[in-house]
Order: sequence, then structure tokens, then C-alpha cells
Amino acid sequence: KRAIIIDTDPGQDDAVAILAALGAPQLDVLGITAVAGNVALAQTERNARIICEWAGRPDVPVYAGAAAPLLRPLVTAEHVHGKTGLDGVPLHQPEMPLQAEHAADFIVTTLRERPAGTVTLCALGPLTNLALALRMAPDIAPRIREIVLMGGSYFEGGNITPAAEFNIYVDPHAADIVLRCGAPIVMMPLDVTHKARSSAARIGWLRALPNRAGNLAADCLTTLERYDVQRYGEFGSPLHDPTVIAYLLQPQLFGGRQVNVSVELAGELTLGATVIDWWGISGRAANVHYLTEVDADGFFRLLADCLSTLP
Ligand code: BDR
Ligand code: CA
Repeated sequence: KRAIIIDTDPGQDDAVAILAALGAPQLDVLGITAVAGNVALAQTERNARIICEWAGRPDVPVYAGAAAPLLRPLVTAEHVHGKTGLDGVPLHQPEMPLQAEHAADFIVTTLRERPAGTVTLCALGPLTNLALALRMAPDIAPRIREIVLMGGSYFEGGNITPAAEFNIYVDPHAADIVLRCGAPIVMMPLDVTHKARSSAARIGWLRALPNRAGNLAADCLTTLERYDVQRYGEFGSPLHDPTVIAYLLQPQLFGGRQVNVSVELAGELTLGATVIDWWGISGRAANVHYLTEVDADGFFRLLADCLSTLP
């Protein structure tokens, strides 16, 4: 089994990603670390626990991490995800406890304790927790098997500003630290997630599953569509975060390039933009496997398969 830590700010698409990971027999979710992003930390850590309980997995430890980005004030996305972060899905009061340890400490301890090269970090929100861990303990960088993150955009433009994608924009300084850390990085930018869109048929595949998880995932996508339809019209809602989990399971569904990715930290109009050296003209070493292509039907089928194993 591949050992992973999921760092997340749920978020309906985060929720579908977490459910898929918990349903995938090939993955061992060592823990879930929550970060402020789509909504405040108090909601994201609570939502992470609710999602574990949906999956029948109250044994998965959930840690709270950073309540705000490293340097900038927190920007949230209630306009997309609603006040709770999981609007559109019935929410309960979670019974499983929140762990006492800070998320960044959990990441550091786990990477030090487990054999080097065995733990994958899956980042589905702003990169604050990962950056804190890397700054506190630079020795963990060479021990990371791979960082697979949802964030960034180049060809598609931004979704929170014209130039920047939300996860990178919220904490661009954290993203900069992660992108320079030297560990192998795979990025799922809007350039690929905008090709992984829901449709009535694809939501139907999830809704048709004979379990609760399929219905909850379908509820999540239906809520996102309500917002995204204003922006993306008939083409359906991009399913961002679950692409990270799908990549771990079936990387052949995706296509991209090994490139240099840098984050804009000074621009007035372009703060948090990811600058992709697609043609290798900067001389800067490639630090990211940057994905732009996906077999969308294959991706949704894989999601349905993962969810089908849950209660
Ligand atoms: C990212 O921002 C969040 O709203 C989503 O959960 C996803 O992680 C997409 O830009
Ligand atoms: Ca997210």
C-alpha cells in the first residue's frame, strides 16, 4: 500500500478526493492535516472529521494546522463552497476527536519515522502546512517520496484573480517554499482540472452507486455545479482535488511535462501566478511534473470505483 498524508481545506472537491482516497485499496491514509483555505480552519478540520465518519473511518487521525497563510491575510472561497465549506451536503456533529498535535509536527514526525522515500504528501489546499513543516525540518525534504498537489495555472488563467489559481494565491510564499524544496513534485493545475468536468452523466455514475458515499459525492458535485455554471456554463464543474488521488492510482490517465515552475511574489496584478517555463527558455532546472491532459471519462470511472468500496 502507498502511504499518503492528505493536506486539505474541505471544500466539496476536497471531500470527494478524501472519500476516493479512503476507498482506494492501494492507499494507506496515515493522517489528514487541515489548513485554512476555502473556509476558516475551525471549519476545515471539522469537515475533515465529518468526511472520515462518512467513510466509516473515524480511526484516521485528523490534525489542525495553520489558521492563516505565512505572510498574507487569509482569503477564503465561501462564494464557491458556502459558509460551511460543504454546503449542499447534510452535515452532522463529528464524534471522532481532533488530534492535539499540530499538522506540521505530524508531517515532520511521520516523515522522520517512516522509511525514507515511502511517504507521499497530497496537497489539496493552500500550501501553508507543508511550508511550515519544510521550514521547521529541512531534513524531511529528501525523505518525501513525492508531493502531488492541486494548484497553479498557466494556459487557463486564474480562478481567484485573472492571473492566479486559488490554492497558490492564498499562500504564494508557502507555495514558493514547497516548489524550491527539492522533493519530486507533481502539479495538477487548472490546465488539467478544467478538463476534468462533471456532467449529468458523470454525476449520475456516482449517484447510481448503491452506497451513501456515492450519494454524498454526487451532492458535492451538484453544489459545485450550481456555482460553476455561471462561469463554465454547460460544460460542468471542474473537479480539482480528486485528480490528485486519481494520479496516484492511475498516472497513465494524465499527460504533462517536466518543467520549471516559479511563483510570482511581487506582481501587483499577478501575485500568486505560477510561471511555467514550458519551452525551457529560462535555464532554471525543472522542478515539477506539470500536468495538462486527462482522460476525463477514465478519471470519473476510477472515482466511482474508489467510492464503491465505502459504506
Ligand atoms: C482549488 O481551490 C479550492 O476552492 C478547491 O478546493 C481546489 O483545491 C481550485 O482552485
Ligand atoms: Ca481544496
